Amino acid sequence: MQQQTESGTTRSKAKFEVVPISSALGAEIRGIDLSRADAAAVKAIRDAWLEHVVLLFRDQDLSDDALADFSRNFGELDLAPPMETSQGATHPEILAVSNVKEGGKAIGTLGDGEAIWHSDMNYMEAPPTGSLLYSLEVPPAGGDTGFCNMYKALDTLPADIRRRIDGLSIKHDSSTNSGGYLRQGSKPVDDVRTCPGAVHPMVCTHPETGRKSLFIGRRRHAYIMGLPLAESEKLLDAIWAHATRKELTWHHRWRVGDVLMWDNRCAMHRRDSFDPATRRLMHRTQIKGGKPS
Ligand SMILES: [Fe+2]
Repeated sequence: MQQQTESGTTRSKAKFEVVPISSALGAEIRGIDLSRADAAAVKAIRDAWLEHVVLLFRDQDLSDDALADFSRNFGELDLAPPMETSQGATHPEILAVSNVKEGGKAIGTLGDGEAIWHSDMNYMEAPPTGSLLYSLEVPPAGGDTGFCNMYKALDTLPADIRRRIDGLSIKHDSSTNSGGYLRQGSKPVDDVRTCPGAVHPMVCTHPETGRKSLFIGRRRHAYIMGLPLAESEKLLDAIWAHATRKELTWHHRWRVGDVLMWDNRCAMHRRDSFDPATRRLMHRTQIKGGKPS
């Protein structure tokens, strides 16, 4: 239960404030220590998350256990890929996202380059429900994380495109990651129609809010099933140009101690590149998901 004030800020019974961040999506939750969130606070946070799609919590001080414990309130967590947890994080459910190298070895994943717009693991049959990202070290410039509201992307699609995509599905290529690198064991893609990856409907219904959103995964190597290749490319280009317009997006400038929590079912995200000579270290948890429908 939340009470609205004149500024749009809401105060929950759990005694924290929910302050909208942008007209696209997102809210900052003020006045909570995530390591002490009780059941009432978790319920209010879940409600705010479903409403605002992305939540920001500032000035947190979380051990890996505390981050995993809080994250588990929102569902079972995926285990981090074993190779990438060895140095940067000490918890099986936490992935280190970092460009830092120690003894010549990367302590985390994703390096310092741009990560293009994507939904996490869209190429899997059951992409994750969402993720939490906690900043331990941030570069002085760059490395901002952007989000895009896929409810609004669908709601504002031109009517002819909206009609056309009803009933259509996308093949989500699994060979290449959001940094543009081939995943281990994958072959370079020479025909998007035959690359490996899950097929999902373009218009999905959120299992908790019941709202419809656009699910397009990532642009690179995507293919709309059943269409001639040139037609698929043209339609995808038009949809992507629309979905990533500035008014549907918000970018976050990180401070140490920030936690961002996003709903992967109705938001895409990206990351700016940053100076490789600077350090960026984040710890991430990922909530297990289900098949989009
Ligand atoms: Fe991601």
